Amino acid sequence: MIISLQDLKPAEKQYYLQHIIAPRPICFASTIDVEGNVNLSPFSFFNIFSSNPPVVIFSPARRVRDNTTKHTLQNVLEVPEVVINMVTYDMVQQTSLASCEYPKTVNEFTKAGFTMEKATVVRPPMVKESLAKMECRVMEIKSLGEMGGAGQLVICKVLVLHIDENLFEDVPADEVMRKLDQRKIHHVARLGGDWYCQVNEHNLFKVIKPSTSLGIGVDALPAHIRNSKILTGNNLGLLANVKEIPVIEAAFNDDHLKQILQYYSINPPEMEKELHLYASSLLSDGKVQEAWQVLLSND
Ligand SMILES: Cc1cc2nc3c(=O)[nH]c(=O)nc-3n(C[C@H](O)[C@H](O)[C@H](O)COP(=O)(O)O)c2cc1C
Repeated sequence: MIISLQDLKPAEKQYYLQHIIAPRPICFASTIDVEGNVNLSPFSFFNIFSSNPPVVIFSPARRVRDNTTKHTLQNVLEVPEVVINMVTYDMVQQTSLASCEYPKTVNEFTKAGFTMEKATVVRPPMVKESLAKMECRVMEIKSLGEMGGAGQLVICKVLVLHIDENLFEDVPADEVMRKLDQRKIHHVARLGGDWYCQVNEHNLFKVIKPSTSLGIGVDALPAHIRNSKILTGNNLGLLANVKEIPVIEAAFNDDHLKQILQYYSINPPEMEKELHLYASSLLSDGKVQEAWQVLLSND
């Protein structure tokens, strides 16, 4: 299906884009107006855009329904300061409750049952229950339009970070900079409609950064590897990340490989299939060099 955005109603545009651009982290924004009324609302049109200067942006859009503006936007126009509280799984239902459209004078901290904690350099309070929060100064507000659904970018400079002790690695690293344990930050993120996802140890995985010496690239893989019916795109990505095609190592001594070479010697197509299956399973275990040896043994 090919969809031209100009043919869609605003709610339809929002629907498709929010399902496809996901998961999105949630900025739980605490703001204040000149009268001192506090507001707390979640926004998933949010991300980091620069680390030096440290800049994050979130977008309280004009309502698709009636084109009104959000209290959060009104507040930052009056008092250009915000605390962005990160949302973890334990907070998600209360966070959603805070997105109700309470009147401007109603403090969503109270409604959603969160505790206000004094920030150190900005006026809006922090959410005590949040494990990571950022005190920010609003640098600029960039309107993307006057229509319902138009984003209003609140561009924020992060001044102070508050990080809960429990999010750090257990054993203090020797280095000066303390390391965070990603597994301990149980983020939740927003997807399309009512869908959210939870980040935990079961769904986290690592992709080792490509080395600074460039990977050879998929186009440089031998044709029988590149055109394999068995090896997946992820398998090829790992194989192509070596800085040169490895040489066959006489010392590589692997019983399963020996068995394949002996058993299938009379049937080369079957042998190739078995070798690729074995290489694929080695790659699933992160054993790139071993997988290469298995694949090269077919040359
Ligand atoms: C998880 C979550 C994410 C949301 N993300 C956005 C968003 O990125 N932009 C937006 O305009 N509204 C978003 N909303 C809806 C606002 O939170 C909602 O309109 C809220 O009432 C705004 O409050 P305010 O008028 O007090 O600022 C989101 C709601 C939830 C629950």
